[in-house]
Amino acid sequence: MQHQPEPWRVKVVEPIHLPDRDTRLKRLEEAGYNVFAIPAEDVYIDLLTDSGTAAMSQNQWAGIMLGDESYAGARNFYHFRDTVQQITGLPFIIPTHQGRVAENLLFSTLVKPGMKIPSNNHFDTTRANIEVHGGEAVDLVIPEGRRPESDHPFKGNIDLDRLDAFLAENGRDHVPIAMLTITNNSGGGQPVSLANIRGMSEICHRHGVPFFLDACRFAENAWFIKQREPGQAHRAIQDIAADMFNAADGCTMSAKKDGLANIGGFIGMRDQTLFENLKNMLILIEGFPTYGGLAGRDLEAVARGLVEALDERYLAFRVGQVQAFWQRLDRAGIPMIRPAGGHAVYIDAKSFLPHIPPEQFPAQSLTVALYLEGGVRGVEIGGVMFGKTDPETGEPVWPELELVRLAIPRRVYTNTHLEYVADVLEKMYRNRESVTGLRMVYGAEVLRHFTARFTPVA
Ligand code: F0G
Repeated sequence: MQHQPEPWRVKVVEPIHLPDRDTRLKRLEEAGYNVFAIPAEDVYIDLLTDSGTAAMSQNQWAGIMLGDESYAGARNFYHFRDTVQQITGLPFIIPTHQGRVAENLLFSTLVKPGMKIPSNNHFDTTRANIEVHGGEAVDLVIPEGRRPESDHPFKGNIDLDRLDAFLAENGRDHVPIAMLTITNNSGGGQPVSLANIRGMSEICHRHGVPFFLDACRFAENAWFIKQREPGQAHRAIQDIAADMFNAADGCTMSAKKDGLANIGGFIGMRDQTLFENLKNMLILIEGFPTYGGLAGRDLEAVARGLVEALDERYLAFRVGQVQAFWQRLDRAGIPMIRPAGGHAVYIDAKSFLPHIPPEQFPAQSLTVALYLEGGVRGVEIGGVMFGKTDPETGEPVWPELELVRLAIPRRVYTNTHLEYVADVLEKMYRNRESVTGLRMVYGAEVLRHFTARFTPVA
């Protein structure tokens, strides 16, 4: 036993099945070799995302039955608000139906054309919500965070010297807010240390810039701090989480991750004027401030899930399961971002398939092959998602990394399921020369990875 076993037993089961190989090939053809277009029922092990895919507990399901669906002032809202206040220490809380609405509220209120918002790495939706208002999303992760082979314990850290220089150069008037993503999803699910969070807080406040956390995976980040940061091992996870939020002026949150819920999110802050402004915008785009686009029962599920996500036995299992899966793949020689992230492993498709050039989409090719070989769905983070055309030369520009992310839903799959995925990948790695590239036959202007279509290169 490499890590703590599941601190629960199974009460309800959801059947899954592996379609035969002919059916899998047919589904791929119908989907234009894009796994987003494959019906979930024809996926055996679905590692597309850890977002909104968690199994809820009996306590959460019981809470669902206590949903109060009053338009205004439902009791679940007060439970939700009090729970979030208790965990984060932030006084002003606005529920939203998911994380990107919290981002939309914040950036539509604060960002004006030409402004710049620094972060370690902005997540796609955060970046898009900044750019749509004419702002620039600037990534300042430490150099180790850009090197897949680095074993730095906190590869999600922001480069504090660069941040200081950036704020000195741009000034409060051009930087309305600074963000920090914990854990750093775009950088491999890597954590940020408490020292780094506090360092960022000090620098931002010295420059008069508000500092917000993108807190989607705050509990997993707190667990890494407890495991890896000197002097933190003996502390309660709730206290570490409280310290993280204490350093910040607010946070955006997708409760579809460490809220252990299937839908939900919030934005929390200390500034009452900002709160009043966001609340008015919320009414316009989401709903009344005591439900924010959610049913009362969903607010209850989130309130209960946030507490469960901070249970140390749960976190030991959760992060341990991802780590054990990563170690198994590492022993097989499969190239990945090091070390294991909190919620996912990221396979380096360029090294896995060196014979496939960037214009034939190595990470997309590996994603398609993984579904064909094992009925497993991952997500491409490479040339399909981030490839661009140079506006001057018309030449394609390819991202540095071609990754396939296998995100592990919370409390959903057993170790046996993940061993099956590892078996499939090991076999594929031994026969990697047989994987062929793809040619894109349709690609939308924006966010093309969701709808792009391909055909295999002969
Ligand atoms: N911030 C981070 C770091 C995220 O990972 C996500 C979502 C969001 C914000 C947006 O939250 O989906 O509730 O609107 N990440 C999902 C993923 C989609 O698969 O990584 P949302």
